[in-house]
Amino acid sequence: MTTTTATIPIPLFNLKQQHAAIQKEINEAVVRVLESMQWILGPENAAFEKEFAAMMGVKYCVTCSSGAAALQIALNACGVGPGDEVITTPFTFIATTSSITLTGAKFVFADIDPAACNIDPKQIEKKITKKTKAILPVHLYGYPADMGAIMEIAKKHNLKVIEDCAQSHLAEYNGRMTGGIGHAGAFSFYPSKNLGACGDAGAVTTNDETVAKAALSLRHCGRMLDKAYEYCCEGSTLRMDEVQAAILRIKLRHLKNWTEMRRKAAKLYDAGLKGLPVTTPPATKAGWSQSFYVYTIKAPRRDELAAHLKSRGIASAIYYPLALYSQPVYKGMGFHAADYPNTERATAEALSLPMFPELSAEQVERVCREIRAFYGK
Ligand SMILES: Cc1ncc(COP(=O)(O)O)c(C=O)c1O
Repeated sequence: MTTTTATIPIPLFNLKQQHAAIQKEINEAVVRVLESMQWILGPENAAFEKEFAAMMGVKYCVTCSSGAAALQIALNACGVGPGDEVITTPFTFIATTSSITLTGAKFVFADIDPAACNIDPKQIEKKITKKTKAILPVHLYGYPADMGAIMEIAKKHNLKVIEDCAQSHLAEYNGRMTGGIGHAGAFSFYPSKNLGACGDAGAVTTNDETVAKAALSLRHCGRMLDKAYEYCCEGSTLRMDEVQAAILRIKLRHLKNWTEMRRKAAKLYDAGLKGLPVTTPPATKAGWSQSFYVYTIKAPRRDELAAHLKSRGIASAIYYPLALYSQPVYKGMGFHAADYPNTERATAEALSLPMFPELSAEQVERVCREIRAFYGK
């Protein structure tokens, strides 16, 4: 059988294509770090922290071992601990809630808004108790949560806000980049993310020097910053290694361009899916932008559509098929799915289509054509 562009499978992400374009530079950087014999907390991390902070428009960046670690460090650094409650969304990856539990605090769910699938500020207010210490919004799929409303609630009730930015590199809310609006942001550099390491890595961002200093200690077993063997808190070994920092520095130089390429592909999807019974991602207002970690539609007969795409060699994914309150690990905690109707609908309808910077107009058109064919349009 001849392989034409019309039959080549379209993956959800295409790490291979992106890696090939910068492989030589990455290989040289890896060798340079290995030969330097400085494998943790060295010049690559220091430089990446400065460069990433500058690009995200924040004063401080503290690198760490993963997005999950970043969340836990950020929560701890903002003073969240045993006895506290943290209000978050149930429509997210489990690290959002497990990081809260790992601090000794309890997570409390507020339902999402049906359009953006982010935590609904109106639902947050209803969940505030005397124990509430923080709000943890997730900028899901790279669409910014309603940070204006969230920060107002936080101010009124004296709460901390920790942004889960695992999917929102360079997404903007009202002209401000996510990760610098709340008291702290937590980024993931998991390989498939908009900025991905060649392994696990993450970072905490903040404009608050106290939070930054606490994060520096927490990622490094709780060490005092000026004394090698004195400890100001109990942290853990959560550092990012120098090899990953060197790789991320190379990729960071491409992030703006890659993000623009994602946004262009998203526009093509928007146009190609017009008139179909699917709901495309909400449009952004002036001063807002999305990072398009994934391009997620709400689709009737979602599972059948996914099967149809698969049969045509087109990958898709469901983020997330099961809300966190329905996860086996949280059974017995007294959650009721009926209390989160918007989340329930999203788990039944959300479908993420192929999205990566190098996705071609032709590939987007092929995906749209197959969706049109599925709905008989
Ligand atoms: C919303 C969200 N939060 C947190 C994380 C955790 O990041 P990591 O896998 O780097 O620990 C992820 C990663 O998939 C995520 O998507």
